[in-house]
Amino acid sequence: MANPLYEQDILSIKDLSLEQIQLILKTAKQLKQSPASRAIQGKIIAQCFFESSTRTRLSFEAAALRLGGQNIGFSSDEGLSIKKGETLHDTIRVISDYADLIVIRHPSEGAARFAAEVSGKPVINAGDGANQHPTQALVDLFTIQECQKSLEGLSIALVGDLKYGRTIHSFAQACMLFDMRLYLVSPQELALPEPICDALKKQGVRFSFHRSMEEVLTKVDILYLTRIQQERFSEAEYQLVRNNYILTPSLLENTKTKANLKVLHPLPRINEIDMGVDKTPYSHYFIQAANGIYVRQALLALLLNEKLYE
Ligand code: CP
Repeated sequence: MANPLYEQDILSIKDLSLEQIQLILKTAKQLKQSPASRAIQGKIIAQCFFESSTRTRLSFEAAALRLGGQNIGFSSDEGLSIKKGETLHDTIRVISDYADLIVIRHPSEGAARFAAEVSGKPVINAGDGANQHPTQALVDLFTIQECQKSLEGLSIALVGDLKYGRTIHSFAQACMLFDMRLYLVSPQELALPEPICDALKKQGVRFSFHRSMEEVLTKVDILYLTRIQQERFSEAEYQLVRNNYILTPSLLENTKTKANLKVLHPLPRINEIDMGVDKTPYSHYFIQAANGIYVRQALLALLLNEKLYE
């Protein structure tokens, strides 16, 4: 069977069809069950991180190594010739001759799409500014499917910085492909951007706006918290909203939540989830982070193998 993802770029979750997402999730499940694979033996992955990262970079690196590949790359622009004035265009153009695939994280929206236009090799967007983080959305879908047994018919609360959170943007757009009911919980000034709300409406996704977590906590299967993206706005604005949503064990204990409720967070967390929640049965964010490796293994295997990876 032809592999529809072979040599494709992964730039936005919107570029992926339902069938392609299902293929990635199925491959990730196979890799989680049987991790031994040499699917990218001899391939070189360039990990180009112009912005800080723990999970995305290290899970992509580990994914490449687990599949028999090798990594080159950097975790900031320190030490790059960009510091001497070289353009992103020339940097990517050159790296695409050194590697078989480029993973890029960059603070500018659209940087990954620009890199894909320049690169002769597939490009994966590992986060571009406040725009998109498609591989995180795939990790989220994989984790939800695993813990709730299905992606259909779920009620999901998205809580926190819905304006600047790129993981939220990608995840909300992925939800359009499934029968999900969304509760959007944020301060007014950090609401989900209008174009995404319009797209949700157009696709018939049911959603509503809320100011407090308590309003929705009894209704949802998934409580998806995010941090306030401090780096994307001023200190004064940050101080106004930084303590708006804090999940504590007592809030969970004193609320009649659904028995299957799971708490997700793309991490890093700042203060949104009290560490006491880690020990409760609702905590699922470290499993979510661990799943990153299988989903990223699946992406590397599928993008670099013409024959459908099985
Ligand atoms: N979830 C996520 O993107 O984490 P990092 O910023 O650590 O990669």
